[in-house]
Amino acid sequence: MDYNPLAPEVQDNPYPYYAELRDKAPVAWIESMQGWAVSRYADVDFIFRNPRLFSSALWNTTASGDLVVVPEAPGLLSMDPPDHTRMRKLANKGFTPRLIREMEPRVRTITQDLLKPLSGQVEADLVSALSVPLPIIVIAEMLGIELARQATQDVELEGGKLPAGATVLLLLGAANRDERKFPEPDRFDVERNPQDHVGFGYGIHYCLGAPLARLEGRVALEALLFDCPPFTRVLAQVPRIAAYLVRGPRTLPLRFAITRRAVA
Ligand code: HEM
Repeated sequence: MDYNPLAPEVQDNPYPYYAELRDKAPVAWIESMQGWAVSRYADVDFIFRNPRLFSSALWNTTASGDLVVVPEAPGLLSMDPPDHTRMRKLANKGFTPRLIREMEPRVRTITQDLLKPLSGQVEADLVSALSVPLPIIVIAEMLGIELARQATQDVELEGGKLPAGATVLLLLGAANRDERKFPEPDRFDVERNPQDHVGFGYGIHYCLGAPLARLEGRVALEALLFDCPPFTRVLAQVPRIAAYLVRGPRTLPLRFAITRRAVA
């Protein structure tokens, strides 16, 4: 199957391609990436659970295309135990649940400050106004990303065989929509509570910033839904970030319904 992660139609909606990969080529050679894409949940989960069979040393920034989300992340991500174990222990200290909880008021203030200039505007781009600067400001204040793994020996997965030395790319978006694992995975369900999705990875490299990302997402959505005037999307189709690692809009213009205050 000819799967090109950077093709505009794939970037726009990768899920039909993921479904085809899971069914027809669950372990597929991807020419443009010179690696093997693994799309079934069971296989992604197996690889996450076996860091000794799959080394992360190969991780490199090309995986993120033209978007460097968290420049510090590749350091940890490209380490294997025991170096990884030591560094991760140190990094964990900056991301304890208590520290993240204590950041909520500050994340809210930053969000409000970023949204303030939009007040009274009819149209604004959500990506440049909020989605990009919010996590950057938060991490800059805190200071201090899926990507490639390499098979250390021949491995037989449910979906096929991987030769020793193979570069392996885990399609987390495909694993999370695997109907072999989750019921009705394509249905948007805000009350879904899957404890075992792999959106933040799993195992020793599980996303260090997951609680922070969740906090930022919640605070940003609360501000947009409760503090801003009602809004609609301007474009039916938005331009996408050209990257292997993440999928998201490059710009997301919103139109706000500005309600005039009654003059007393
Ligand atoms: C919604 C936003 C985010 C998503 C979807 C996400 C996703 C992921 C995933 C899938 C991994 C595992 C990669 C692998 O095992 O190969 C990961 C690792 C990591 N993430 Fe995130 N991440 C997000 C936000 C953040 C933020 C805000 C930070 C920093 C504050 C962060 C820092 C890291 C670090 C340091 C690692 C490497 C951990 C290790 O190797 O031990 N992430 N992330």
